[in-house]
Amino acid sequence: MCGIVGYIGSKNCIPIIIEGLKRLEYRGYDSAGIGFIENNSCRVIKNKGKVSLLEKKVAEGVYSPSVGLGHTRWATHGEPNEINAHPHYNADKSLMIIHNGIIENYQTLKTILINAGYEFKSQTDSEVLAHLIDSFLKKGNELFKAVRLALAEVEGTYGLAILYDKEPDKIIVAKKGSPLVIGVGDDENYIASDVSALIAYTSRVVYIEDGEVAEVFRDGFNAKTILDEDINKEIHKISMSLEEIDRGGYETFMLKEIMEQPESVLNSMRGRLLFDEGTVKLGGIQNLAERLAKTKRIIITACGTSWHAGLVGEYMFEQFLRIPTEVEYASEFRYRNPILQPDDAIFFISQSGETADSLAALKEAKRKGALVLGICNVVGSSIARESEAGVYIHAGPEIGVASTKAFTSQLVVLALITLLIARKKDMSLIDGQKIVEEFQAIPEKIKTILKLNSQIEEIASKFRDAKNFLYLGRGYNFPVALEGALKLKEISYIHAEGYPAAEMKHGPIALVDENMPVVFIAPKDSTYDKIVSNIEEIRARKGRIIAIASESDNHIDNLADFTIKIPDTIRMLMPILTVIPLQLLAYHIAMKKGLNVDQPRNLAKSVTVE
Ligand code: AGP
Ligand code: GLU
Repeated sequence: MCGIVGYIGSKNCIPIIIEGLKRLEYRGYDSAGIGFIENNSCRVIKNKGKVSLLEKKVAEGVYSPSVGLGHTRWATHGEPNEINAHPHYNADKSLMIIHNGIIENYQTLKTILINAGYEFKSQTDSEVLAHLIDSFLKKGNELFKAVRLALAEVEGTYGLAILYDKEPDKIIVAKKGSPLVIGVGDDENYIASDVSALIAYTSRVVYIEDGEVAEVFRDGFNAKTILDEDINKEIHKISMSLEEIDRGGYETFMLKEIMEQPESVLNSMRGRLLFDEGTVKLGGIQNLAERLAKTKRIIITACGTSWHAGLVGEYMFEQFLRIPTEVEYASEFRYRNPILQPDDAIFFISQSGETADSLAALKEAKRKGALVLGICNVVGSSIARESEAGVYIHAGPEIGVASTKAFTSQLVVLALITLLIARKKDMSLIDGQKIVEEFQAIPEKIKTILKLNSQIEEIASKFRDAKNFLYLGRGYNFPVALEGALKLKEISYIHAEGYPAAEMKHGPIALVDENMPVVFIAPKDSTYDKIVSNIEEIRARKGRIIAIASESDNHIDNLADFTIKIPDTIRMLMPILTVIPLQLLAYHIAMKKGLNVDQPRNLAKSVTVE
């Protein structure tokens, strides 16, 4: 979950590492640290809290080391404080490590090391790595070998970087289950857990794979497997630009990303719609379309917001493809020994492509021989690379921890996949063309909704003191209710629940009184009359109603306390529109409470631990 960054070259590494940490801070941000080698000895500076505090602390000294590491932590073991922040030293402070992930057998290793005389300073699982590597150095191994031997004893996940003052000309990196890349420069090299920390310096990257260890020098690198096999690594060119990861004049990344949706959604469709043929072109899975049309069962696996997108996908696949579809939390899928048939297709949806639960579920599905397909945003991410085939959503970098534009782009891609397969089945040309037209109109409709920003802000100001919220929707808009509630919970810390509107009367209605705001997602579709009855039921109990409704709906104004009117589209695409007012509502409520929406407490952008 944390951010890792490092530099080896001839420049002062400190500003480079601080800058890289700031770019990675969205991934985890409870404490930060920097470590470097100067005058042949290791030095670590770290603190609780933000990278900006670390920057101030580092500025109190005068250093100009040319090799160093930086870390922003998202605590898994041990509270976020200075001692638990990374880097962690070995006993004589000749070696330091930074670690992303969880060492699952750390208790066993710790006991062995304590019995061998090692003393632990922190409560982290990570610190065992420093002492374990030290124990192999003490046996006379050089660093690269000591790391490989140590990692052979480690269970769990890691993105790892190590410095050793007796071999100050190298950084050692290793990966298992947590991302790690080398950025290749001219007579200098970088390391990071995420390419966004590197793009200011280089566009050439090497992705370290699970089970690989590399020694990175000023003028090159050498990679091996943990088992000491030589490997040749390819250098990839990345095309992300710096502007893409800046705030671009907006107060927060989240608002920028909400406002970007007309373009991000367009980018997800760009070059993919084929009006004349009433279908789409999806390079990544085109040659699998026939096979997918014959699939007996589709499974969609994901976490959080991506799981909500998957639920919408289920409605799409079952309506248009008539293929039974199941949606499952990746964490549950993995551990229940899923029953998979050879002709099942499994989609893994993940913005980051690094979510540990999803990645582990993917590996389990692969092991069982199912067709594994990825729907990812981050190009070159682990899930994208591990999938047999897939479709990128091309939403551009999403930095705000609360996912917004990635969700709408995931919905677009699921709808594109639906159309591709449906046209291989029994959907007619005319019907296909109608859907293509609806796709084309979506970006303009999003623009219309975004113009309601100040109206939604006004509504938000009435609810900033609410303690609970209910979100209700039916059919395609049931997952949108879940997503609206998740957005509010994540950034405003207000407790919120999403329900299918009809389920409300089976329990949650007991919560409704004049203090309970209830958000209805109630566009004019086939479930409209039913949902109006549900609104009446809430009204009768004096709940405060906010309705997301169709532009043409005048009746609903008489029922709801607040209405947000949005354009219509076909049912399949409606969630792309209905979710946007919910993103803005959550955003403004959180901002009115004075909260940090880009980095909400306890969360991290990319959940690379189980
Ligand atoms: C979204 O707002 C959340 N922060 C979170 O639920 C997220 O969607 C989840 O962790 C999955 O992430 P992924 O799409 O990168 O796999
Ligand atoms: N498990 C480690 C810790 O708690 C690393 C956490 C992280 O990935 O930031 O310190």
